[in-house]
Amino acid sequence: MTFFFTSLKGGTWFENVYPGVRCDVPAHVYQSTFAPNTQWTEEFAQGPEIQAYWEGLARKFDVYKYLQLSQKVEKEEWDPVQSEWNVTVRDLKTDTVRVETVDFVLNAIGRFNSWRLPDYPGLSDYKGLLRHTSNWDPNFDIKGKRVAVIGNGASGIQVVANIQKVVGHLDHYARNKTWIAASFAGHETSTTPIVIDEELRESFKQDPEKYIAYRKEKESIYYRGFKDWFKGSEKNEETRGNLIKLINGRLGAKPDLIDQLIPDFSPHCRRLTPGPGYLEAITAENTDYIQTPIKRFTETGIETEDGVHREVDAIYCATGANGDLAPPFPVIANGENLAEVWKPGGKYGFPYTYLGAATPGFPNLLFIHGPNGSGRSGTVPHSVETQITYFAKILRKVGREGIKAIEPLKEAADDFVQYSDAFFAKTVLSENCSSWYNGGRPGARIHGLWPGSASLVTLLQREPRWEDWKYDYIHDSGNRFVWYFGNGGTRKESDPEADVTPYLVNPDKIDLRDVHESWWLIP
Ligand SMILES: Cc1cc2nc3c(=O)[nH]c(=O)nc-3n(C[C@H](O)[C@H](O)[C@H](O)COP(=O)(O)OP(=O)(O)OC[C@H]3O[C@@H](n4cnc5c(N)ncnc54)[C@H](O)[C@@H]3O)c2cc1C
Ligand SMILES: NC(=O)c1ccc[n+]([C@@H]2O[C@H](COP(=O)([O-])OP(=O)(O)OC[C@H]3O[C@@H](n4cnc5c(N)ncnc54)[C@H](OP(=O)(O)O)[C@@H]3O)[C@@H](O)[C@H]2O)c1
Repeated sequence: MTFFFTSLKGGTWFENVYPGVRCDVPAHVYQSTFAPNTQWTEEFAQGPEIQAYWEGLARKFDVYKYLQLSQKVEKEEWDPVQSEWNVTVRDLKTDTVRVETVDFVLNAIGRFNSWRLPDYPGLSDYKGLLRHTSNWDPNFDIKGKRVAVIGNGASGIQVVANIQKVVGHLDHYARNKTWIAASFAGHETSTTPIVIDEELRESFKQDPEKYIAYRKEKESIYYRGFKDWFKGSEKNEETRGNLIKLINGRLGAKPDLIDQLIPDFSPHCRRLTPGPGYLEAITAENTDYIQTPIKRFTETGIETEDGVHREVDAIYCATGANGDLAPPFPVIANGENLAEVWKPGGKYGFPYTYLGAATPGFPNLLFIHGPNGSGRSGTVPHSVETQITYFAKILRKVGREGIKAIEPLKEAADDFVQYSDAFFAKTVLSENCSSWYNGGRPGARIHGLWPGSASLVTLLQREPRWEDWKYDYIHDSGNRFVWYFGNGGTRKESDPEADVTPYLVNPDKIDLRDVHESWWLIP
């Protein structure tokens, strides 16, 4: 088993180092279920503390031995004769390319990792500092400078709130409206760090039960917001009223901005974004809040469609990632390339999957936290853990039963897509807003979220529907049991050292609902 990563350390919390980067759900919730940190220093931990937590986990569970770092996957191509994937990998340290052959591929390339700059005319003419917020230059001192920030997604909101007081002048380009919230799901953020009390932290060390109760209370909220999504629901209307009140109350010197800020779509159509300090920043004296669309970049700044030109020393594009979720490299099988067929205008035109997990025609390929993979309710860590457990069941079946290739049935994927479309049509997500849920195309099919609650997707993944998959077997003897049953015994029982009665444990530890369910407790 090998994992390839593009950077020495990878992912969201390694790459995003812009000022003020932090989680917007409580750190106690935004962590693994199995190895919690009880000692988070801030309610909404800063990026480096989150990064350190995950690195610590990788060390604790000895994950590094499986990693090949600074290796960039450039292509994945299915070989139907060998039933293998040929993976083209570039070693970023030596700049050499090789092809590795593997039986199975799990892509865990992140939804926001393939960040993109906008493609305005004149972009390459601009002579100042031009950066995406996921590619922040810590060596450029913004103090007193004229700075532009493009985009009002969660990144843009966080950056604007955190740099406005430092820069000389801020131009914030926000071409569409968005709801500004105090919290994502109920835990209020603040303009200043919410430090977790030393005494409370110490008590978690002394009393694990107290810690579990604390975390359970916080985390439960994330499974309760499901009804908020539905069009015309009382809860959604209540949220709208609360947010209007909140925005109104925080516009300080520029109360007239209210009309420019309140969206004509419902809260939750775009991901609700807590913006501590954002409204204060855009109403500050040194900020211009610009909704006129950008026409072009120039050598010295940005010109909007009304002909106004604004000079700046630096432009930060908080313009998100490849919202279409088409892989940023070719993934080819049976004459089709996911990087093309998933793109708008391609054969499917959206990320066509079965349960967000796999695509018909692409055997032995699974998507971790991919399109439609996880819900708006629940938490990212829990949803990834349960999805990986689901994938582990698939991989165990493949290994145990001698399956050469497995892929979802087209009929099953079609039913999933049809169900998703019907489900999302009832929700505010299908309203007229641009979001990464719909690939930045208002009203387009929702492909960013699981069509339902986190509780339901957890339940469904417990027991895979094996009838939704098709199989190709290693053995072709004509008898389905020859490879599977082998010589009639197990390898374990012939090992004199092995524990062949692992099911016998202290009866106090037995939960009858679980007896003989654990796949590893076999003689
Ligand atoms: C600034 C920011 C803040 C966020 N805050 C929150 C939050 O508060 N709460 C929340 O729930 N979610 C948040 N998110 C969403 C966040 O992305 C997820 O919570 C989570 O971190 C995603 O993890 P991941 O492993 O799926 O993807 P990533 O963290 O993006 O990791 C993807 C990995 O794949 C590697 N990779 C990509 N392409 C290749 C390739 N071709 N070859 C080899 N390796 C490759 C990358 O190097 C990286 O290591 C935030 C996102 C951003 C951008
Ligand atoms: N912890 C946190 O606080 C935090 C911080 C960052 C990110 N995140 C997570 O990451 C997700 C992605 O956030 P993100 O802000 O990086 O991306 P995003 O939500 O996709 O937002 C991208 C922004 O860029 C704008 N944009 C894109 N192309 C543009 C162009 N050509 N010209 C002008 N504006 C353009 C978009 O405007 P339009 O809407 O008009 O297209 C949008 O405002 C979030 O939803 C959240 O899940 C969380």
